[in-house]
Amino acid sequence: MNRNDPKLLEGTGRLSGKFALVTGGGSGIGRATCQVFAREGATVAVVDVNDTGAEETVQSLQKRGRFPHKSYVTDVTSAGAVSRLVESVRTDYSVVPDVILASQGVQTHTAFLDMDEETFDKIISVNLKATFLVVQAFSRLMVENKVAGGSIITMGSLRAAQVGTALNCKGRPF
Ligand SMILES: NC(=O)c1ccc[n+]([C@@H]2O[C@H](COP(=O)([O-])OP(=O)(O)OC[C@H]3O[C@@H](n4cnc5c(N)ncnc54)[C@H](O)[C@@H]3O)[C@@H](O)[C@H]2O)c1
Repeated sequence: MNRNDPKLLEGTGRLSGKFALVTGGGSGIGRATCQVFAREGATVAVVDVNDTGAEETVQSLQKRGRFPHKSYVTDVTSAGAVSRLVESVRTDYSVVPDVILASQGVQTHTAFLDMDEETFDKIISVNLKATFLVVQAFSRLMVENKVAGGSIITMGSLRAAQVGTALNCKGRPF
């Protein structure tokens, strides 16, 4: 399909019946992806530490999926909070997510030589550790429930390959 095809704006239904969970869905790339997932027919669980952002994303989703879209306020850097998120999603929906996008993130434009320990810890916690926690927890759920054809997507950055810039990567801090 041509990228200018108007059907792309309406959605083609290619995620019809799917259930997607997006962390960092309250803003930026996560929000935009929630909107595309919903337009394509998916039900979307929008997860963010920012309650206003998460709810605004849900309100921006124009098409309903198989189930209603819902927001979850969760700090995904905490293993306990991620466990509670899994339980809440299990309680609220009769199916488990078959699409996971880990898009939570923090960015800094601080040069590597100027970075302090607190900033380093925050970036590693949100960009790296939280991705591990979310992907592990929801992979377990998918395996336990024998989800077929599931997708797990994580965000990285080309800046991960740039020596001397900030720690934006997921998995490669320098
Ligand atoms: N924007 C870009 O050009 C770009 C390019 C390449 C990669 N990325 C990466 O993509 C990801 C998203 O970037 P973005 O531009 O959409 O950023 P953004 O700041 O717009 O969105 C990130 C979201 O993550 C949420 N978040 C932060 N900490 C959280 C936590 N502990 N628990 C739950 N949610 C949390 C924030 O509230 C925010 O809504 C980041 O990892 C970023 O490094 C961005």
